[in-house]
Amino acid sequence: MENSVKNYLEEHKDRFLSELVELLKIPSISADSKYKDDVARAADFVHQKLLDAGVDHAEVCPTKGHPIVYGEKMVDPSAPTILVYGHYDVQPPDPLELWHSPPFEPVIKDEKIYARGACDDKGQVYMHLKAFEILNNTSGLPCNVKFMIEGEEEVGSENLETFVKENSEKLSNDVILISDTSIVSNEIPSITIGLRGISYMEVELTGPNRDLHSGVYGGAVANPVNALCELISSLKDEKGKITIPGFYDRVLEYSEQDRNDLNARPFDLQEYKDDLDIAEVQGEQGFSTIERVGIRPTLDVNGIWGGYAGEGAKTVLPSKASAKISMRLVPNQDSQEITDLFRKHIEAIAPPTMKVKVTEHHGGEPTVTPTTSAAYAAASAAFEEVWGKRPIPTMEGGSIPIVALFKEVLKSDTVLMGFGLDSDAIHSPNEHYGLFNYFIGIETIASFHQKLANSVS
Ligand code: BES
Ligand code: MN
Ligand code: MN
Repeated sequence: MENSVKNYLEEHKDRFLSELVELLKIPSISADSKYKDDVARAADFVHQKLLDAGVDHAEVCPTKGHPIVYGEKMVDPSAPTILVYGHYDVQPPDPLELWHSPPFEPVIKDEKIYARGACDDKGQVYMHLKAFEILNNTSGLPCNVKFMIEGEEEVGSENLETFVKENSEKLSNDVILISDTSIVSNEIPSITIGLRGISYMEVELTGPNRDLHSGVYGGAVANPVNALCELISSLKDEKGKITIPGFYDRVLEYSEQDRNDLNARPFDLQEYKDDLDIAEVQGEQGFSTIERVGIRPTLDVNGIWGGYAGEGAKTVLPSKASAKISMRLVPNQDSQEITDLFRKHIEAIAPPTMKVKVTEHHGGEPTVTPTTSAAYAAASAAFEEVWGKRPIPTMEGGSIPIVALFKEVLKSDTVLMGFGLDSDAIHSPNEHYGLFNYFIGIETIASFHQKLANSVS
């Protein structure tokens, strides 16, 4: 890494951190309409910081939902153009009582910054603004850079889809760069090459027309909570396979060689279990934990409710029960097709005692990014330079549905250069991001710009 970059980073470290702290204080929870103004405030903040960092042009683009922040600096028409994508919205912080410090009052402890969004994705987005600032104020930007930072990633990016389709010219690029994933560990850098897709559903069962006394009617009238539990448990068999007919029809089966390569990555199962305080892992029979997350689809209940959940005991046979269920998808499954199969299956197996309502939330396609592109090579070289180690390619279980759309509409490939750790507790209480990761991420991103420019010129 060029000394000027390192020196600038050293000199401005404290400010780089305090600016991130300011962003983390804004509760930009996209899922909850109560926070609409805060989401807008986070967009304005990112907009202002892009201008401060030296972009030629920046704007806050309104959508039907939360705004998209766009910014760009074009330095040389013959240089490659990087489109940086990220999100400034965050997941709801619940359950609040499990946080050791309030989610929107960032605290730095043990070399980590604790706050909702610290890693996912404000901390990782902000690395890009700072890498840009450094290059712009030292050796000069070697590539053209466009930023597109959205506020609806955590709720399915629906309005971004429209924005991308309507602005494909403006967004044209040579590579999309995203930091919204994880590395294996701080000793083992990696580049994510696979993400799962998702199909997110909600099921509501209605039994009797009102809550009933569970003694007066219990045993004679079907209970929607019981029925929902039975229905859900029938969705997986004893081998951990999903029982929805047709679910596996398009699942790409990997070769022995690919599976061996995938499993060759360092992974300590005991450490994994210890981190989560679980005695055993589980999943689809015949597959390793890495495979279960990286290349196999799955189905999980994300939330379930119905009946009485307050203090003490209330004897009630509830009228309704509901669950939110997500299915994580892999190549070559199609989220709309899986959504339809799910709906059909639930309607078919719901007991005659219940009315059933199946609604869909968001969907998104899985992605595999190439390892043979100039951009991947540049990312790999950047890690090698800054970390002194060649990064390994990994397949991760999370989803960034817009990546598949980028390929379809903008025809460009994405490099997933994330710097989080699985243990950063994203979407959980006490989310955090390592200061080591934040600063080394800035350096690695700056190096990526330089490597990419060099590889093309
Ligand atoms: N950054 C995550 C996705 C992620 C996390 C990928 C860790 C790889 C490793 C992203 O913000 C996210 O949470 N996505 C949602 C997508 C959904 C809301 C459509 C997800 O995966 O649940
Ligand atoms: Mn994210
Ligand atoms: Mn997320």
